Amino acid sequence: MRVLGIETSCDETGIAIYDTEKGLLAHQLYSQVKLHADYGGVVPELASRDHVRKTLPLIQAALKEAKLNSADIDGVAYTAGPGLVGALLVGACIGRSLALGWQVPAIAVHHMEGHLLAPMLEDVSPEFPFIALLVSGGHTQLVRVDGIGRYQLLGESVDDAAGEAFDKTAKLIGLDYPGGPRLAALAEQGETGHYQFPRPMTDRPGLDFSFSGLKTFAANTIAAAADDQQTRANIARAFQEAVVDTLVIKCRRALKATGLKRLVVAGGVSANKELRRQLHDFAEKIGGEVFFPGPQFCTDNGAMIAYAGAQRLAAGESVDNVVKTFPRWPLEQLHAPMVKA
Ligand code: KG4
Ligand code: ZN
Repeated sequence: MRVLGIETSCDETGIAIYDTEKGLLAHQLYSQVKLHADYGGVVPELASRDHVRKTLPLIQAALKEAKLNSADIDGVAYTAGPGLVGALLVGACIGRSLALGWQVPAIAVHHMEGHLLAPMLEDVSPEFPFIALLVSGGHTQLVRVDGIGRYQLLGESVDDAAGEAFDKTAKLIGLDYPGGPRLAALAEQGETGHYQFPRPMTDRPGLDFSFSGLKTFAANTIAAAADDQQTRANIARAFQEAVVDTLVIKCRRALKATGLKRLVVAGGVSANKELRRQLHDFAEKIGGEVFFPGPQFCTDNGAMIAYAGAQRLAAGESVDNVVKTFPRWPLEQLHAPMVKA
């Protein structure tokens, strides 16, 4: 089965074609980074308009890349939430309409389910059950995953997401949008041991996170520090160490509490090299396994949506002929694929 995937929930237009037998056949991505850079963050209305411009040309490019035409597509998957409502509506309208025109089923995909399943696109992929650490710009969650759609939320951030903390701290340090990856790059040049950031909520039981205090701590640290490049790098390093440490501590706890030894890490922050290093070391130490998406599938992309949609479509699930989006959509509301009679 060949599935076209459409991702337009935020500031990336991602289009892909996934074949349940042959794997990924095409992968197109357009990032709106330049469009939003002057504003220091994503401007929702500009994002929607740019998705309108880019989605259809990228679908044509994906078909060309896969050497297919529309008649070869067996289903269309689009991100229906969570995300920016206008941006979601673009992908949902186009996806649902194309499926209607092509007379194939359509499926509404949960963006975080897409992230969570992204490591399945790799040659060596995890088996169920596992613990997923989802770390993106909007979410920080620990989820027990027993199968597709079988998700139990174990903990989440009570305020900022990990990616959001990276972005906000990057701004304070004077780095341009999008700050997260830039802050991570600066941290690589920093020396350890100059600053000690707190590890929020690690001194009490539970699997929730809180990252908004780190941003305040960073603001105070920056205000009291010298204004030179090495100092900024040292602060970036200390901040990154605190986030990574906190995430590792909570992953350890989640594995211990569930008795599982398999960990999956996904979402934009899973691209972070230090996080990958530390979790690899940790998994090795406990005789467990850790799985990450390939670097290009950590941040938003169409491949993860095509993959997640393909699993549900192949199981016989599809959506009615209506365009619906869910800007707020808890992951636990998902079910295992529901086969239509
Ligand atoms: O998954 P994603 O592309 O979009 C959302 O669903 O939110 O994640 C984007 C987030 C941003 O906050 C970005 O700063 C962060 O992921 N990010 C990183 C890195 N690459 C992306 N954070 C830390 N280190 C990175 N290398
Ligand atoms: Zn995302």
